[in-house]
Amino acid sequence: MQSSWVEIDPTILGANIDALRAAIRPSTEIMFVVKADAYGHGLAPMAVQAAASGVRWLAVAYLDEALTVRARLPDADILVLGVAEPEDVPRLVADRITPIVVSAEHGQALAAAARAMGATVPVHLKVDTGMGRLGAPWQDAHEIFDVLNGEKGLQVTGLCSHFAAVEPNEPERAEEQAQRFLELARALEAKHGRTLFKHLSSSRALLYHPEWDLDAIRPGICLYGYGTEDPRMRFHARPFLQWKARVMQVKAVPAGYPVGYYGTYRTEAPTHIAILSVGYADGYHRALSNRGHVLVRGRRCPVIGRVSMNWVTIDVGPAGDVRRGDEAVLIGEQEGASVWAGELAKICRTIPYEILVGIDPAAERRYINAVSTNPP
Ligand SMILES: Cc1ncc(COP(=O)(O)O)c(C=O)c1O
Repeated sequence: MQSSWVEIDPTILGANIDALRAAIRPSTEIMFVVKADAYGHGLAPMAVQAAASGVRWLAVAYLDEALTVRARLPDADILVLGVAEPEDVPRLVADRITPIVVSAEHGQALAAAARAMGATVPVHLKVDTGMGRLGAPWQDAHEIFDVLNGEKGLQVTGLCSHFAAVEPNEPERAEEQAQRFLELARALEAKHGRTLFKHLSSSRALLYHPEWDLDAIRPGICLYGYGTEDPRMRFHARPFLQWKARVMQVKAVPAGYPVGYYGTYRTEAPTHIAILSVGYADGYHRALSNRGHVLVRGRRCPVIGRVSMNWVTIDVGPAGDVRRGDEAVLIGEQEGASVWAGELAKICRTIPYEILVGIDPAAERRYINAVSTNPP
């Protein structure tokens, strides 16, 4: 007896990486974003597949994720996108992990911790060019770089920023951020007589703006197969995370049969209903009540009634061919039909990211065609 589970084919990630690689200059590195358990796909298997597909850089949010990657990939370059603490410095140094720094004080604290152990930490200065999130405000970034550049124990090797919005219909917003970043980088490189490792673009920016590829791009969602539908984009990817549940009971019901809490749905005609082993406790949003679709026997079956904590009811139609134990596809494809996270996200008025990371991390992840993920 099992609730829902996830099936992932990492070789499709490999194909997505190959397609992206073919679309960019060979001199641009892919820094694959694997935070939040690789957007719900499983950190270690995704990092291992990416490395096998030639990706050198991996970006995570926290040190523990970086350590998970390092345990599998002794040669990867790893960037921590969150704010490392001074007490993290011994592990950062020992495991050759690069943190970002977000302010002069932050950089100085890391430098002091590094000096205390006779080490130097390489860091990338994160510049807030208009996102209004982590990083040194662009107006102060030049000065902050100069302060940090003189700090023993710290070596500022890179410069990065993050876009708030990349919209082809409203290009000024991203262009303004890019110009702030490029001007800063130009001024710093000229003044200090050395090149910095510069990275700016995540998925939407890299899909629309080859001119901002710089030394690295930081794709996340596009390599998981989402957000590449627009024909103007440089490459197109396929999703490869499938989420499945079991049919726990099937019953024939007459017309007018009430379904679920408060009977928000009544069958219009005699049909069969199936109850599935998934609910909002597993990440299947309540917003899908009476709106979502699930695949069973290759058919798109409507979710009827309210999604409850552990169970969902669907209308499998009058044919009577669905059996207890049948596989139900919540995200994925079956016999030519498909339901992907983008469809669920629209109904739930959210983004595919939230649907993917919202799948219960405890749901079993089954890897099909995976390269070995054992630590060396
Ligand atoms: C700093 C940073 N870079 C890159 C990414 C990847 O973004 P995307 O998944 O849209 O490509 C993220 C994702 O949240 C991020 O926070």
